[in-house]
Amino acid sequence: MDAAAWSPRLARWEDIPEMEGLISASVRGLHRGIHSPEQIEASIGTVFGVDRQLIRDGTYFAVEDGGRIIGCGGWSRRASLCGSDSMRTGEDPLVDPGRDPARVRAFFVLPEWARRGVGSALMAECERAITAAGFRRVLIVATLAGEPLYARFGYRVSERTEVSMPGGLSTPVVRMEKELSGPVDAP
Ligand SMILES: CC(C)(COP(=O)(O)OP(=O)(O)OC[C@H]1O[C@@H](n2cnc3c(N)ncnc32)[C@H](O)[C@@H]1OP(=O)(O)O)[C@@H](O)C(=O)NCCC(=O)NCCS
Repeated sequence: MDAAAWSPRLARWEDIPEMEGLISASVRGLHRGIHSPEQIEASIGTVFGVDRQLIRDGTYFAVEDGGRIIGCGGWSRRASLCGSDSMRTGEDPLVDPGRDPARVRAFFVLPEWARRGVGSALMAECERAITAAGFRRVLIVATLAGEPLYARFGYRVSERTEVSMPGGLSTPVVRMEKELSGPVDAP
């Protein structure tokens, strides 16, 4: 099944509980073997969770199968690079499309739906919306699990670093960047 099989729709406020469950299941299933169980549990609800600001901005999408949300992901015109909104206090300021990169944020797919094009469909939708909003550059602070998807879309690694988590733990992340150059199609 490829990305064209899926039609992302805008995420809604009432989707939040289902998406929080999806995010936990995605991280527990797809980060196993990459991160320790302690890192996985510390990341859920902190680094990984819904950022309500994206829903308010109309920049977060969900993919459904038979009425069930099987993937979610989005982009942002705001400064935060990663994390759920529980990691932030106060307003997340807007960035300037003429000068700053848009952010790609918070992609999660249920483990049983991985490698079936859901992440690619979300990515293509985000790049279309980012281009329409006037941005020409995109920045992602990606997980190791997300890196191959973004590399497939032409994003290049500019830095490898770590994000701090509760309990003195940290998790590795990859800063990835891309210049957009016109109409966007999935690879
Ligand atoms: C990252 C994620 C969203 C990808 O979603 P997905 O629906 O599985 O991605 P797709 O099926 O569209 O994959 C498209 C291509 O990306 C690459 N890719 C994706 N996942 C990969 C993996 N685990 N290993 C190697 N390549 C991978 C492949 O080239 C793949 O094409 P192929 O399946 O034809 O080989 C999913 O793995 C996930 O939810 N991970 C856990 C949460 C997470 O870390 N999210 C990233 C936050 S930055």
